[in-house]
Amino acid sequence: MTSYEEVFRASTEDPEGFWLGAARGIDWDVAPSRALDASRAPFYRWFPDGELNVCHNALDRHVAAGRGAQPALVYDSPVTGVRRTYTYGELTDEVAAFAGVLVGLGVGRGDRVVVYMPMVPEAVVAMLACARIGAVHSVVFGGFAAPELAVRIDDAAPKVVVSASCGIEGARVVPYKPLLDRAVELAAHKPEACVILQRPQGMAELGKRDLDWAEAVRAASPAAPVPVAATDPLYILYTSGTTGKPKGVVRDCGGYAVALRWTMEAVYDVGPGEVMFTASDVGWVVGHSYIVYGPLLAGATTVLYEGKPVGTPDAGQFWRVAAEYGVKTLFTAPTAFRAIKKVDPEGKLARRYDLSRLAYLFLAGERLDPETYHWASDLLGIPVVDHWWQTETGWPIVANPVGIEAAPARPGSPTYPLPGWDVRILDAGGNPAPTGEDGAIVVKLPMPPGALPTLWNDDERFVASYLSAYDGFYLTGDGGHIDEDGYVFVMGRTDDVINVAGHRLSTGSMEEVLAAHPAVAECAVIGVADSLKGQVPRGLVVLKAGVEADPAAVEAELVQLVRDRIGAVASLKDVAVVAALPKTRSGKILRKTMRGIADGLDEPVPSTVDDATVLDALRPVLTRGTSLRGRGEQ
Ligand code: COA
Ligand code: AMP
Repeated sequence: MTSYEEVFRASTEDPEGFWLGAARGIDWDVAPSRALDASRAPFYRWFPDGELNVCHNALDRHVAAGRGAQPALVYDSPVTGVRRTYTYGELTDEVAAFAGVLVGLGVGRGDRVVVYMPMVPEAVVAMLACARIGAVHSVVFGGFAAPELAVRIDDAAPKVVVSASCGIEGARVVPYKPLLDRAVELAAHKPEACVILQRPQGMAELGKRDLDWAEAVRAASPAAPVPVAATDPLYILYTSGTTGKPKGVVRDCGGYAVALRWTMEAVYDVGPGEVMFTASDVGWVVGHSYIVYGPLLAGATTVLYEGKPVGTPDAGQFWRVAAEYGVKTLFTAPTAFRAIKKVDPEGKLARRYDLSRLAYLFLAGERLDPETYHWASDLLGIPVVDHWWQTETGWPIVANPVGIEAAPARPGSPTYPLPGWDVRILDAGGNPAPTGEDGAIVVKLPMPPGALPTLWNDDERFVASYLSAYDGFYLTGDGGHIDEDGYVFVMGRTDDVINVAGHRLSTGSMEEVLAAHPAVAECAVIGVADSLKGQVPRGLVVLKAGVEADPAAVEAELVQLVRDRIGAVASLKDVAVVAALPKTRSGKILRKTMRGIADGLDEPVPSTVDDATVLDALRPVLTRGTSLRGRGEQ
């Protein structure tokens, strides 16, 4: 099969055959006899009678095939000056040893392990060690504050937490251990043990519950991979929903391994021995799928980069890494490219390096604005592939399938639905939207292997959040359209989720934090367009009657509160005290209208507005240029 159309058709006409064929890319302890189990629809299961171990597939398998001396993981950390290459043989040994530590702590199949770590190889080792023994990891992004970590600890109820003494954010050392201790204090569930990686940049004091990573590994005996059901959970990854309670996206073992293995060639064109550099974080789905599992399942080399695209120390680091390790496929978020472009608009730094082996740039995590698309294309002279996906889906829904057959790119569109994804646009009444018209982007069930089978311990929320809006369809939460040539355009979220520097955040959860302040009567948080981060949150609060406080002081307290409760990653730097919030006559805050005004659109005032003068009074606050305020850049 050669053309995209043929492959896509095969996936829709005979999904059983298609995915069983893809399953041959994986080593099974018990090969699946069938692909899809729809007997409990809408709770679909893939490869219901298959058994495998994902860690074996990511590591031991390649060693057994004679690739033990090939680089598996390259750690490049400009913030510490450390560079280290782990061969498949070495990484297997490290993972087996840490799996032994976990076994020694009583962790077994189905037990949860929370991983709260910076971008260090040990984070990957911890994830794979869980997979090796059938435990379920839940990685929490390091930019989240203690209360967010606590919520995840309570939901996942881990036996063990794995963390590090500190992370490094640019020039700043961020102590992780106090955040972990505070989170454990806040959580109702208490892990039995915390394994702490001591980093020389900031050592942590260990308490009764804590073990030193290095000592624990020295004392452990290596553990072998344990075969588990394909339908067993591999991990839980929390993502922002519309409320303060994050959604625990569950990933299965078999479907995920099959889908990722397949995408490595079909989407990313990366095969054994080739190098993929995904500049993201292991705390996000992009990191799970294409820093850790995807490249290793394919027997490729993955680059783990601890640093920023700019400032650590310069805007040429992505190019340096690409040249130094012979990267074929680079994957990051558009915001990283906007950051590089801002510092080095002519791309002078890129020209210092030999980028002849760089074949593709993949971008995802937020809408790729045409300007950034053109800048990157002109600079690199290689295909720049916009692709769209979500934590829930585990791998891209829509992409230019360059590994199968490249389509002419259309800036602003991530191109075509990938095989397995039946993407439709529905109007508010649930009817197909006319070609080219915006509506809700949905996926017809069942979704392909690798997509979430449910939410952790919450089948009801899974159905309510994703499956109840349109019967028989998964609601993506994104709006957009499909043009007459089948190109999908993703225009933005239709719910309270915003994408800030490629990080998915909930305005609802920020509102919950602002509302908790004793001086605040009511509030709204909206995402407004930002030239660097894509979107940034902006808070508007009304103070309780009789509160005498200085508005500027309250604003500063609220910014700090969100930082303390959600984390620095929330990037809420702009909160304004206002006299009133615009509402409909039924009392609903006009967030969409305010967002439109803030983005400089000619936003119509809805006929349901209760008092148009409130909105008019807010216009100057909404339209002021605030996106870079507080960053010393304006
Ligand atoms: N641990 C602790 N703090 C963290 C953190 C982590 N892992 N990650 C981010 N933060 C902090 C940052 O230091 C920053 O703090 P500050 O407000 O004190 O400056 C804050 O959270 C916001 O982070 P971020 O939005 O990443 O902004 P930034 O100014 O540090 O960097 C970019 C901006 C564009 C360079 C950066 O976001 C980036 O490289 N993005 C790449 C895209 C990406 O990784 N996307 C993930 C999905 S693909
Ligand atoms: P996350 O779950 O963190 O991966 O974020 C998923 C959300 O990011 C999607 O629902 C989209 O809103 C947005 N997103 C990701 N990739 C793209 C893209 N290529 N174009 C537009 N939006 C994107």
